[in-house]
Amino acid sequence: MSNTIQAKLQGIRGMPDVLPGEAEFWELFEEAVRSWLKSYGYRPIRMPIVEPTPLFKRAIGEVTDIVEKEMYSFVDSLNGELLTLRPEGTAGCVRAVIQHNLIAQQPQRLYYIGQMFRHERPQKGRYRQFHQVGVEALGFSGPDIDAEMILMGARLWDDLGLEGIKLQLNTLGQPEERARHRAELIAYFEQHQDVLDEDAKRRLHTNPLRILDSKNPAMQPIILGAPKLIDFLGEASLEHFNAVQQVLRDAGLPFEINPRLVRGLDYYNLTVFEWVTDRLGAQGTVCAGGRYDGLIGQLGGKPAPACGFAMGVERLVSLIRDAGGEPLPAGTDVYVVHQGEAAARMAFRVAEGLRDNGVDVVLHCGGGSFKSQMKKADSSGAMFAVIIGDDEVAAGEVSLKPMRDEGDEQKRVKIDDLADAIMNTMLDCDEEEEA
Ligand code: HAM
Repeated sequence: MSNTIQAKLQGIRGMPDVLPGEAEFWELFEEAVRSWLKSYGYRPIRMPIVEPTPLFKRAIGEVTDIVEKEMYSFVDSLNGELLTLRPEGTAGCVRAVIQHNLIAQQPQRLYYIGQMFRHERPQKGRYRQFHQVGVEALGFSGPDIDAEMILMGARLWDDLGLEGIKLQLNTLGQPEERARHRAELIAYFEQHQDVLDEDAKRRLHTNPLRILDSKNPAMQPIILGAPKLIDFLGEASLEHFNAVQQVLRDAGLPFEINPRLVRGLDYYNLTVFEWVTDRLGAQGTVCAGGRYDGLIGQLGGKPAPACGFAMGVERLVSLIRDAGGEPLPAGTDVYVVHQGEAAARMAFRVAEGLRDNGVDVVLHCGGGSFKSQMKKADSSGAMFAVIIGDDEVAAGEVSLKPMRDEGDEQKRVKIDDLADAIMNTMLDCDEEEEA
């Protein structure tokens, strides 16, 4: 025996496990999300978790926090290719759409659900592996799809019973408009060099717009006085922005225009938005997105407009839990206990037969006395125990014991009648609950 003390194996910091108890909330959330997406005509797409690093550099932008310091990148030791664990889904989705020519015939409404990876400082609501539901509409140019995507969010919060998620809206205009604003912004911040922090100084000539997003209290007065993009927008951009707002007003959806909303990824133009709550502490943005008309062309596709958003699953599940949401019931319908070799063989047949009839069954595995098996049946949350011993085998029957209803007695049931007996009792229970 080796007496080397082995380090305890632990998961990676910032990449939490989702354990049973919590995971049921995730399933509840995903179920609601899938039916909500279907109701708006969105279809699923699944992309790899790993993509070539240049994809993210080109899509998200070289001078962004994500690309500069948060990507999990590595060299594929077999062929030397530089790869990255996806920090977000839009780049991969657009890459797949171009590669498979998906929007040649008609625009596409697509969604994906899955892990993303960013090497951030972990804290509540901010993880190094987190999950997003991403929603992308490719090939649509009008403000109608932007507005529809925003209204979709409002409906989901409602479906999930979540309150207090507020909409912030902004427009980033078009690249030429931003370029003129940017030049003015640099000139303005150059006049206030003494107040800029290190981060801002570094960004002054690479990404001055991000300075507007700084949380540094000392810089707030000069940020407030900075030239505003809205004053550089042309007629078409303003019209697009107004049209989005009009639909939201018509739908009675309140929003706040936040000129400082610039987003942390470079691919956006025109509409950008974030859904924010104050119930999650510092990490209050639960959903964010906007229009990205340049990205498809920039990644080598035939230029086409697009718009999308993604939401943080961890943050939303946490809100659902805090709001007292009910997880999916953890229990099964039936727990089958059995003793003896013939009973074990019959137990398999009975369990599969019940499943054929749509009944959820946990078959006891691992032996043990009837008493210890019944304890497990009880803690499984099952509505019934099906008990099989030598007597039952000899009679071609099972004993059916209701576990949740005190009044009901254990009874013998012929195997062929078992599914009906269980289904009928479950239906009676549902009706009683509804009455
Ligand atoms: P994003 O703003 O980087 O946008 O992320 C979207 C959402 O993902 C955030 O609002 C937040 O809820 C969640 N999120 C981001 N980082 C973390 C983290 N470290 N831990 C937990 N949750 C996080 C995008 O990713 C864009 N691809 C959205 C988009 C789609 N735009 C157009 N289409």
